Amino acid sequence: MKSIEINIEHALYFAEKQYNALEAPAVEAMTALEKGTGEGADFLGWLHLPSETSDKLIADINATAARLREACDYVVCIGIGGSYLGARAVISALSDSFSDFYAPAPKNPKILYAGQNIGEEYLAELQKLLEGKKFGIVVISKSGTTTEPAIAFRLLRDQLEKQVGKDAAKNLIVAITDAKKGALRTMADQEGWETYVIPDNVGGRFSVLTPVGLLPIACAGYDIAKLVAGAADMERTSAHPSPENPVEVYARMRNALYQDGKKIEILVNFDPKLHYFSEWWKQLYGESEGKNHKGIFPASVDLTTDLHSMGQWIQDGERTIFETVLSVKKPAIDHRVPENASNLDGINYLAGKRIDEVNKMAELGTRIAHVEGGVPNIHITLPALDEYSLGQLIYFFEKACGVSGYILGVNPFNQPGVEDYKRNMFALLGKPGYEKETADIQSKIK
Ligand code: PA5
Repeated sequence: MKSIEINIEHALYFAEKQYNALEAPAVEAMTALEKGTGEGADFLGWLHLPSETSDKLIADINATAARLREACDYVVCIGIGGSYLGARAVISALSDSFSDFYAPAPKNPKILYAGQNIGEEYLAELQKLLEGKKFGIVVISKSGTTTEPAIAFRLLRDQLEKQVGKDAAKNLIVAITDAKKGALRTMADQEGWETYVIPDNVGGRFSVLTPVGLLPIACAGYDIAKLVAGAADMERTSAHPSPENPVEVYARMRNALYQDGKKIEILVNFDPKLHYFSEWWKQLYGESEGKNHKGIFPASVDLTTDLHSMGQWIQDGERTIFETVLSVKKPAIDHRVPENASNLDGINYLAGKRIDEVNKMAELGTRIAHVEGGVPNIHITLPALDEYSLGQLIYFFEKACGVSGYILGVNPFNQPGVEDYKRNMFALLGKPGYEKETADIQSKIK
């Protein structure tokens, strides 16, 4: 099987001195991660997860997915942040771009998402769509107490039970949560829903290769064994510190650029199917590294679309950015530009060429222009947009995130800053137990 490749040639000459100086810290970070001697080491359950995932777990998840696929035209995945982005990233990378507009095919339910926002119209419109439809729910929350998914789940569970009856609904709800704690665990145990466990030592944003990501991906009809196999191969490839280790190279290069004043990393794709992969990546790096007033700001663009909105800034704005380009070697479909007799649009010079050839030249031309404009470029090539390559890429970014956080000097596995908005929201909404915070915040907004 082909491996993803990384090329840092056009980033290195921007920060070679810093890159060389980071050789020892990178080895140290790799070693601390492997030995579990760094900060947050009780959250390293993801590190050997791919190679340790049992055939039985894959078979169980596939059996649950088969049951939902058989019974449902729609499966709603309820979750937010790390409990949703990984599944959405993989499913949208592998799906037909227009699958939403086709009627559901037998055994191929459409995957819908809820609990990732608190949009009143979004939820009302989702419920309207599901009226009288055959649907199931996969509800995912590690803590089991997150407000956004709790609201969505209350609404949709109610709707499902009204539509099919409480007994039938039981077989159409699957909960993925902590083994023992949280409201969702209590409800699942009381109601007798099937459950999967999010391991204690795997944080949300590192959980895509647990049932959190695997069950929704299997419900969408994709091969989770291949996804895990790709990740396991990258686990092996990146196991030992070495200047050639792709994980070490990426983590070291981005820290070298950061030290050179490049404070923003833009993940660039040239395939619209990777849009949600970037959303997953932004959460992974943003929540892991943005601490103690440090950390590269993770941004993303979809090209060539955003060349017509953000292209000017990237080419010519403040020189505090670098790019990491995700390039897919070959699209699965051969589609070409047609000849046109009148050629009034002047594009007959492209006739007969694959659309991907035009895209690849756009990519190369953009990379050259941006590098010449002072934007360092890291280039990552995926052999194909399939389960195996995505599995490799997921593990690559997860491990590089741990290594990079350690090089930066932060604990990449906690997220204390996420609690602040929740405390204010609960205080403003008058949640029981938040009486003092309510009084404090009311005095600020008077
Ligand atoms: O990565 C994280 O830890 C977070 O993004 C969580 O996944 C997110 O806040 C959802 O939390 P929970 O799964 O507890 O509902």
